[in-house]
Formats: sequence, structure tokens, C-alpha cells
Amino acid sequence: MSATIIDGKAIAADLRARVARGVTVFRDQLGRAPGLAVVLVGEDPASAVYVRNKGRSTREAGMESFEHRLPDTTTTDELLELVARLNGDPAVDGILVQLPLPAHVDAQAVLQAIDPDKDVDGFHPVNAGRLATGLDGLVPCTPLGCIMMLRTVHPNLAGLDAVVVGRSNIVGKPMAQLLLRESCTVTVVHSRSRDAFAHVRQADIVVAAVGIPGFIPGSAIKPGATVIDVGINRTDTGLVGDVDFAAAREVAGAITPVPGGVGPMTIACLIRNTLVAASLRAG
Ligand code: GUN
Repeated sequence: MSATIIDGKAIAADLRARVARGVTVFRDQLGRAPGLAVVLVGEDPASAVYVRNKGRSTREAGMESFEHRLPDTTTTDELLELVARLNGDPAVDGILVQLPLPAHVDAQAVLQAIDPDKDVDGFHPVNAGRLATGLDGLVPCTPLGCIMMLRTVHPNLAGLDAVVVGRSNIVGKPMAQLLLRESCTVTVVHSRSRDAFAHVRQADIVVAAVGIPGFIPGSAIKPGATVIDVGINRTDTGLVGDVDFAAAREVAGAITPVPGGVGPMTIACLIRNTLVAASLRAG
């Protein structure tokens, strides 16, 4: 039997509409809109598309979008100066520095300079620490979107066996923390794992975030499992995920498509985080 397709576009549209209603209340109460500053360094075409989409979604939700496009030659010090300015700007509630940054820039220094309470990406060590210790904070957008999609299939995730494939700071690690917060039994597999697919085969929930097209075969999916595919890989045949979708959908109980799955949720969670940051700052 073919899996239920988890419609990320529809879930994201619903979240965006809820955020837009929250923005209206915020404006009525505070007399200003929440503001998101996005910083793009260089000319990477994929990053330029993401930044354009983020700006559009921000404005559509009724928020202010401040875009800073800087040349490839921008130095770490220049970026630190800009971040300091945005940290001190009362109209800016959220700051996002688009990754990857050029190789000559100290990306960690830049990310750590962002005020944790404006860190809508949730990448600052303070927010990573808050997540790991169960404190409230800003949570990385992609893993948060994955949890929201999982909840549409499993309203209660407690006790389920979850395997996260990939251990990046942006997705894999925070994803594992969020699943743990939901009381899943969590395994993280990665490029040095001895037999990653043996773990995947046991999982009720699989989150794939490795950035390799079609890396996870249908044969690695347990029948009836829920599969969240974070991969967005550009190939000659278009955008494909990290999971062999055609094979996996014949085995899984539910699966996200690429495109139209995790991608739209990431941006919706970004505007959600911006509203959360603005509300927290407003007290
Ligand atoms: N580049 C790819 N994904 C992301 C993300 O979630 N946030 C930022 N800032 N850059 C990215």
C-alpha cells in the first residue's frame, strides 16, 4: 500500500496564516510590526533564492523585512559590525545570517555575535544549550518544522523509536534534541556509523538529513514507518530528497515529498520564530 503523503505546503500555509493573525494582534497592541533582518553575503544562487523567499513570506505575514546584501569580499569584522548594529536596533526582532558564508569569514564568530534573543535560526550556543537542557528558547526552523509535520501523523510521539540520519548543527543535532523532548527513543546515525541502515530499519520515525540524493533506499524503511526527508538536492532531474521516494512510499506509512515537504515548513517556522522573538522582547 502506498504511504500517506505529508503535505508540507498545506501545513506551512496553515502555520503562516496563524502567524499572520498573531502579527495583527502584535501590531494592534504595540503599534509596530515585528521585524526580521536577513543578511546575505556573496552571490550563491541557491542562497539568493532562499533569501528572496524569506523576504516575501515575512512581508506576506505583515512583518517588516530588512535585507542586507553584501559583496563576497565582506570581512568578518564588517559582518560583526553589522550584527552589532542589528542587535541594537529596536525595529529588528530577528536576525538571520544566511549560510554558507564565504570561506574567509569566521562563521562561528558571526553566529555567536547575534543576540540569542534575536537568533531566529536558533544556531547560537545559548539557544542550543537551552534546547538541550529543556529551557525555553528559539529552536532551529527546519527541525521544528519536522516535529510539526510528525505531529500530524503522531499526535503523541512518546515512546516511538526515532532515527536521525545526519549530525549537523543545523538539523541533525537539534532534531535529536527535539525528538528527545517529545520522549522518543532517539538514535543518531552518521557517516562513521558502522551499519546506519540496520538502525534505520528498526525505526518508527526516520528523519533524513545527509544531503546525498536518494541515499536511503526503500529497503531500509520499516513497513509503516513515518519518513521525514530534509534533503533538498539539485540534480539533473530536478530537486530530490535524501530518500529514494518512489521505493520508500511503497513501504512507509507516511512520507514527506521533495519538494513540497520540509522546505515550506522551514520558512513558515522562521516567521513563527520571528513573531515569538518579537513577543518575548516586548515582554
Ligand atoms: N542555509 C541553509 N539552511 C539554512 C538555515 O536554516 N538558516 C540559515 N541561516 N542558513 C541556511
